[in-house]
Amino acid sequence: MIKSNKSITFKIATDGSSASGKTTGAKLISKRFNMNFLSSGSLYRFCALKILKNKNIYNKIFINQIVKSITLKKLQNKKLYSPEVAKLSSIIAKKPFVRMALKSFQISFVKKYKLVVVEGRDIGSVIMPNADLKLFFTCSIKEKARRRHKEFKSQNKKITLKEVKKSLIQRDKEDTKRKISPLIMTKNAVLVDTTKLSIKELDRKLTGLVKKAIIKKYGNL
Ligand code: C5P
Repeated sequence: MIKSNKSITFKIATDGSSASGKTTGAKLISKRFNMNFLSSGSLYRFCALKILKNKNIYNKIFINQIVKSITLKKLQNKKLYSPEVAKLSSIIAKKPFVRMALKSFQISFVKKYKLVVVEGRDIGSVIMPNADLKLFFTCSIKEKARRRHKEFKSQNKKITLKEVKKSLIQRDKEDTKRKISPLIMTKNAVLVDTTKLSIKELDRKLTGLVKKAIIKKYGNL
């Protein structure tokens, strides 16, 4: 819909709990509207993976070095999506120096491009408070656990549905209750409940929401 030669600036923040469908949703938007995509969760996961490799030892200098080394390509590493990395990423996400280093990375990304969709927990509240569109994803815990378990199974990871559910509940609790940049739905965000939506239905819904918001900003293109 958006041709890159048009001088349009449109920035979308998508937030939501773990496995709520926000990554899938943000990727669908990025593909359909030719937008630059960033999963901020992958940044926390990248740091967590490096920390695990460093025998769980880390400080501000170590984190700053890791953040300097991040490239978008490195964020596609499949190793970032293991249960151990997920667990540690939520723990380090509570540290102000980790959030600060990753905040600068995210802000530069958002500034660099005119068409951007970023997903995470604090995108609409902290990283892009002036986003053109804010989406907040939600989904029942039963469906979230089913989806994540299916994902792990397809990667031959040995983990039960019960364990997946438990770790999602724990991670959501850590992300919602933390003092610094907790997961919150901002007042101007649009709620997207993915519990009963197929990918096709989600795509249709998001396309409608984004088109409406672009028209609101620019009129019919
Ligand atoms: O979204 P994803 O599950 O990949 O994120 C991994 C972890 O990174 C989350 O559980 C959360 O603790 C942390 N995170 C965060 N703020 C963000 C994105 C992710 O604290 N904007």
